Amino acid sequence: MILDGHAQQSIAAGAQCIRSGELLGLPTETVYGLGADADSADAIGHIFSAKGRPADHPLIVHVLDAASVNHFASTVPDFADRLIKGYWPGPLTLILPRRQGVAAAAAGGQDSIGLRCPSHPVAQALLKACRQTEGSAAQRVVWGIAAPSANQFGRVSPTTAQHVQSEFGADLLILDGGPCELGIESTIIDCTRNVPVLLRPGAVTREQAQVVCGQKVFLSDEWVAAEAAAPRASGTLASHYAPHAKVRLMNASEMQIAIDLLGDGLKAYGDAAPTIAVYSRAHLKVKSKQLLSRRMPTDAAQTAQQLFAVLREFDQRGVKLIWIETPPDGIEWDAVRDRLQRAAA
Ligand code: TXA
Ligand code: MG
Repeated sequence: MILDGHAQQSIAAGAQCIRSGELLGLPTETVYGLGADADSADAIGHIFSAKGRPADHPLIVHVLDAASVNHFASTVPDFADRLIKGYWPGPLTLILPRRQGVAAAAAGGQDSIGLRCPSHPVAQALLKACRQTEGSAAQRVVWGIAAPSANQFGRVSPTTAQHVQSEFGADLLILDGGPCELGIESTIIDCTRNVPVLLRPGAVTREQAQVVCGQKVFLSDEWVAAEAAAPRASGTLASHYAPHAKVRLMNASEMQIAIDLLGDGLKAYGDAAPTIAVYSRAHLKVKSKQLLSRRMPTDAAQTAQQLFAVLREFDQRGVKLIWIETPPDGIEWDAVRDRLQRAAA
């Protein structure tokens, strides 16, 4: 069931759902999450089974504010503190050493915990309602909502309430907060080693993070020796974010050549033709009706915002192949390039 997340009674219903150990679809500024009480091992178990996600893949825990960090984390290095001050609330997840005995299931058994304070007003209102005990001393405080992206394991992340419903069906309660403003998942920085290490690129760029930390943020592969021991991050598996159709990255001239080579050839297949979708910044000459074409914005943030919705739309139209123009080289495209390379893997 989808409720208007901006209505006060929906927030109350969502908080009630989380308190009683059930799952809730919730909006954030990045993508929609499938949330549950981070401190309830049973509720967390429901997330893993609903998503078909292996239980040793840690989840991100969403918190109301910086003050909630100490409930989950045992220590916060100075550089992590500076990142929190600079980018919370916002699309930045920090991996911190986990307090023993807290949120072990959400952490997938790791001795670290991923924490993020989302800026979306509906997520904020929900986290606030979960933290309050509404005058009843018997009511337990919920300190955090564990929420991976609300999609089946390995599939494209949802950026609307309807996407979430199409993944989990009508029984799931979902707070509708509109289409996500950013559209791809948060930047993840590992703060459990003695230096910050970027695990997943996102809207907060490595350069921006370096400015607020005042120190170098390492890339994972610059940290090769440690990587063998690092937790497996499902968002970092090579083939994550895969639509059903096969994705290929090409430059604009390769795409035009491929389209020209197909020419009218597709006609021979009639209505049963294998459909191809093209997503490019360049204007391509497309004649066949069996080629779906969509323009990629020339702006990286706009492309991120619509990327997963576009991939979902292509899947829904039954496309077999998706040809995507390789993103430009600039660092502002790092996060989009990362998701596209995984979709193509
Ligand atoms: O934008 C986002 O971060 C979205 C929204 C819903 O907030 N959430 C999200 O969660 O992307 P999820 O579970 O799909 O991605 C979590 C990623 C995984 O790749 C996981 O491995 C990594 O964060 N992660 C979480 N806790 C970790 C930990 N303790 N150590 C290492 N990686 C961790
Ligand atoms: Mg995910």
